[in-house]
Amino acid sequence: MKAIEQYQITINEFIAANKFNKFPQELYEPLDYIMALGGKRMRPVMVLMACDLMNGKMEDAVHAAMAIETFHNFTLIHDDIMDNAPVRRGKTTVHEKWNVNTAILSGDVMLIEAYALLMIYENDLMRSILNIFNKSAIEVCEGQQIDMNFESRVDVSLSEYIHMITLKTAVVLGASLEVGALIAGVSKKQAQHLYEFGKNMGIAFQLRDDYLDLYADPEKFGKQVGGDVIANKKTFMLIKALELAKDNDAIELNKWLQAATFNASEKVEAINNIFDRLAIPQLLNDAVTHYADLAWKEFAQIEASLEKKEMMADFMNGLLAREV
Ligand code: IPE
Ligand code: IPE
Ligand code: MG
Ligand code: MG
Ligand code: MG
Repeated sequence: MKAIEQYQITINEFIAANKFNKFPQELYEPLDYIMALGGKRMRPVMVLMACDLMNGKMEDAVHAAMAIETFHNFTLIHDDIMDNAPVRRGKTTVHEKWNVNTAILSGDVMLIEAYALLMIYENDLMRSILNIFNKSAIEVCEGQQIDMNFESRVDVSLSEYIHMITLKTAVVLGASLEVGALIAGVSKKQAQHLYEFGKNMGIAFQLRDDYLDLYADPEKFGKQVGGDVIANKKTFMLIKALELAKDNDAIELNKWLQAATFNASEKVEAINNIFDRLAIPQLLNDAVTHYADLAWKEFAQIEASLEKKEMMADFMNGLLAREV
């Protein structure tokens, strides 16, 4: 199996060689802008790695990998409008650099460009890729709507939260592995284990994303630290804090959640302190471990060479420990 860097190089070279750079430039410039900002490229790497893991040809998976990365970048453009986010990958978000209308339409065309990349596959394979791609893309929209609905609720349960992050984030990680495996021509059963492996890793990944949103080093993170707290996002941390806070902590937490106007950095600091007092970061770590363990159980069912599995395991462990 090739080194992980080789997958990243393959993806970055494809992006550099396939700039949108079309007319009208107001529509396409944001696409090249967001794609060039980088990011971890974990989804396309997962597509290529899964194809290689299951003994397919990595080159055959490049277009599908790019389709998923293009789709992901589209979701980020629209997510940043919805989350009122000023910074993405260390740079101004598309809707702030241009405007909301541009971010909507450039996002729309980006989604269609993602589909266009799949046209390269022959009929049967294209249908099976589209089957998983469409299902996951619809689930992402459902998850994103539920995420918005939760902003104005205070009674969100942990299981509702896990369902929401499964939809908005985890299914695309599952789909990335499954699509790579489909291109390699694996059995349905093996493809399903890869999907479940990716999905459970995706839940752990979003739990960690919620943690980083508040606890990351702002210099490295590339997103606004505290954005979830400012928007009253019902993250694992906030749900746990609402469950565990007593007396003054409970009063203060509810005061911040209900405040219509507030100083953002004061709110972020106050809620951060409450989370620390309640040892929420430790609980979050336990939850990450729980979902990673579920993922490793699926991983054990995957029939592939030990050497290739080791590389996949290293990559996933790296994602769980990520700082950005
Ligand atoms: C951000 O995804 C959106 C989430 C699902 C949390 P990534 O953390 O993969 O973002 P990039 O692509 O590396 O920037
Ligand atoms: C976004 O989750 C998931 C999707 C983009 C579909 P977040 O809103 O937590 O992602 P970030 O933190 O902005 O990257
Ligand atoms: Mg967001
Ligand atoms: Mg969001
Ligand atoms: Mg986040």
